[in-house]
Amino acid sequence: MRRERLEPDQPSLREPLPDSVPQPIPDKDLKTQMSISIVILAAGRGSRMQSSLPKVLHPLAGRPMLTHVMDSATQLLPGQTPLYVVVGKDGALVREKCNQYTVRWFEQAQQLGTGHALMQAAPACEKAGTVLVLYGDVPMTRVETLQSLVDACNDSCLALLTLNSPEPSGYGRIIRDDNNRITAIVEDRDASPQQRAITEINTGIMAIPAQRLSHWLTRLRADNVQEEYYLTDIVALAAEEGTDIVSVHPRHAWEVQGVNSRAQQARLERMVQQQRAAELTDAGVTLMDPARIDIRGQLDTGRDVFIDINCLFEGHVTLGDGVEIGPGCHIRNSSIGRGTQVRSYSVIEDSQIGTDCSVGPFARLRPETCLASGVRVGNFVETKQSSIGTNSKVNHLSYIGNSTLGSQVNIGAGTITCNYDGVQKHPTSIADEAFIGSNTALVAPVSVGKGACVGAGSTITASVPEGSLAIGRSRQRTIPGWTKHARTKERDKPESTDSHNG
Ligand code: UD1
Ligand code: CA
Repeated sequence: MRRERLEPDQPSLREPLPDSVPQPIPDKDLKTQMSISIVILAAGRGSRMQSSLPKVLHPLAGRPMLTHVMDSATQLLPGQTPLYVVVGKDGALVREKCNQYTVRWFEQAQQLGTGHALMQAAPACEKAGTVLVLYGDVPMTRVETLQSLVDACNDSCLALLTLNSPEPSGYGRIIRDDNNRITAIVEDRDASPQQRAITEINTGIMAIPAQRLSHWLTRLRADNVQEEYYLTDIVALAAEEGTDIVSVHPRHAWEVQGVNSRAQQARLERMVQQQRAAELTDAGVTLMDPARIDIRGQLDTGRDVFIDINCLFEGHVTLGDGVEIGPGCHIRNSSIGRGTQVRSYSVIEDSQIGTDCSVGPFARLRPETCLASGVRVGNFVETKQSSIGTNSKVNHLSYIGNSTLGSQVNIGAGTITCNYDGVQKHPTSIADEAFIGSNTALVAPVSVGKGACVGAGSTITASVPEGSLAIGRSRQRTIPGWTKHARTKERDKPESTDSHNG
C-alpha cells in the first residue's frame, strides 16, 4: 500500500528549498509568449478509488477533478489552443463530462505507465518550445505555480515541480549529486532505503523542452518493479546528456496533493475548502467557523457579509452587502440583495432575492422565485416560479407556486395556491395590498384584485374583484345545548351484551 501524505503548514514545508519559490504573476502575463503544448495524463485506472467512475471524474469542490486541471491549463494557453488529454478505454464518459473545453483526446488503450501515456500525445505536440505535463489526479496546482515552471524551462533545461515533504512515502524521490544538481527520480517502489529517506518529492508535474521529448521517450525502458514506462526516467536521461534540470516549488503543499484514494480525496476537499474560507475572510466576510463552510462553485460577496456555521453554496451565488446567512442554509445559483437575512436551515435554488428581505427559518425557495425588496417569507413556506412584490409577507406554512404577488400583500398562515390540476400548471395573481385569510386554497387559474380580502378557510375558485371580500366556506351551524344532550344519551345506554368470557 502506498501512502501519499502532504499536510499543509508543516514547519518543514515552509522551509525554502535551494531553488526558486514562485512569485505571484500579474494576470496579463499569464499567457505565455513561447509555444507551449499541455498534456494532461488521465488514463490511469484509479483502482485505489474502488469505484466504477473514472478517478479523474470524482468531484472536488463540486466539479470533476479533471476540470480543475483543465481550467488552470487553459489559462496558460493562448486563444483556442487545444489541451491534449490522454484517457483510457473508459474515456467516453470523461470526454462527455469535459466537453466544454477545447481538447484533443488521445486514447491509451493499455495503462503501461506515465511515460507510455505521454507517448500517445507526444507526436501531436509542438516540436519547439515547452511541453507541460500535468496529471489529472493532481487537481489544485495554482496557475502562477505552473507559469513559474514553464518559465524555468527552455531548450536546454528541464524543469520539475518538487516539494520538500515530511511524508515522502509513495512519491518518487529527487536524487541530487554532490553539487546539488538533479540527476534522477527514483520511484518509491524502486528506491533503496537510503533513497527512501530523501524528503524532496516529485509532484509529477514537469516542463520539458519539446525538441528533446521524443528523443527521450523512445529511450524509456520498462525495467522496473511495476514493468511500466516511467516518465520520471527521462530525468536521468536528460542529466546524462548534460541537460540542465531545475526544480520549482509550489507555495502551498495542497497544490500538489494527489488523489489516489477516497481518503486523499476527502482530505484534499477539506484543504480546498479551508483555502476558500481563507479567501472569504481575507475579503472581509465573517465566517462563524471557517472550518464549517462548503463552497462548490463561485461565491461572490459584498461588504460585511456574515455566514453562520454549516452552510453550503453551490453553483454561482452572490451575496450583497450586509447579507446575513443563518446556520445550515443551502443556497444554489442565486443572488441575495443587500441587507437581506436568510435564517436557519433555509434552502434557496435558482432564485433572485431583493434587498432587506427576511427568509426562513426553514423556508424553501425553489427555482424561479423572485422576491422584491422588503419581502418576508417565513417558516415552512415553499415557493416556486413566483414573484412576490415589495414588502409583501408570506410568513407561515404556505405554498406559493406559479404566482404573481403585488406589493404589500399579506398571505395568511397555511394558504395554498392549487396550481396543478394533474395535467397542467395554472397561474395565480394577487394584486397590491390584497389580504388572504389563513388556510385559504386558491384554485388556479384565479386572481385576487387590488386591496381585496379573502376570509380565512376559503376555497377560492372564481376571481375576486378589487376592493371586495370573498368568503368561500360553508356557513357555520350551531346547535344549542347539544353537548349536554349527547352526553346524557351516552350515560343512559344499556350495558353491552358482548362478552369475551361468554
Ligand atoms: C507518479 C510519479 C511519481 C510522483 C507521483 C506524484 C511516475 C512513474 N511516477 O506516481 O514520481 O511522485 O506521480 O503524484 O510518473 N497515468 C496514465 N497512464 C498510465 C499511468 C498513469 O495516464 O499508464 C496517469 C494517471 O491517470 C494519473 C497520472 O498519470 O493522472 C499519475 O499516475 P499514477 O499511477 O497515479 O502515478 P503515481 O504512482 O502516483
Ligand atoms: Ca497519483
